[in-house]
Amino acid sequence: MPAAWVFATNNKHKLDEVRHAAGSLITLQSLAQLGCTEILPETGHTLEENARQKAEFVFAKYGVPCFADDSGLEVEALNGEPGVASAHYAGPQRSSTDNINLLLSRLKNEANRKARFRCIIAVASHQGLQLFEGVLNGNIAIQPQGTMGFGYDPVFVPEGETRTLAEITLEEKNKISHRARAVRKLISFLRGQIQ
Ligand code: IMP
Repeated sequence: MPAAWVFATNNKHKLDEVRHAAGSLITLQSLAQLGCTEILPETGHTLEENARQKAEFVFAKYGVPCFADDSGLEVEALNGEPGVASAHYAGPQRSSTDNINLLLSRLKNEANRKARFRCIIAVASHQGLQLFEGVLNGNIAIQPQGTMGFGYDPVFVPEGETRTLAEITLEEKNKISHRARAVRKLISFLRGQIQ
């Protein structure tokens, strides 16, 4: 009988990705399946704090082992911005187009285009708290290219690539993405817990 875990998200893409990676190791519930309808705390100043807040809230309230993720884009020439503010960089409308336009305007005439996507997965269980990190290094393009993906994908060119993340298939992205890298670490942790 696989162990029951909650993934503190209702994002179907993220749930599918982790379910696929975990196979029959665990059964995974979303927040909706758990019956959790409240807005989870996410008031931290770092990805680590936000992921931790969400996982610990669910574990404390429902007593089910839980993991939660938080991710963002960190641009070297902008001292790590937009970072934890990635989703609402250009304002509360959370528009990817506005966010990209603001980012490109802040990088106008900037030669250093180095950036990275970072994903943190926090695990809260009877074993305490664990954090797993996944990083994808790359560069910010001069202008958006491609129509696939979401968020900053049209302006992010992974290291060793000439295409943006919006020009590669989801299958290719899922092999190299910051989230996939953090998920792989999570799965090997869960394997160690369960076997
Ligand atoms: P979340 O924590 O995964 O919801 O990500 C927060 C924000 O970071 C998103 O709204 C996007 O703006 C940005 N982001 C995170 N992961 C990606 C990605 O894989 N591609 C593009 N943007 C991303």
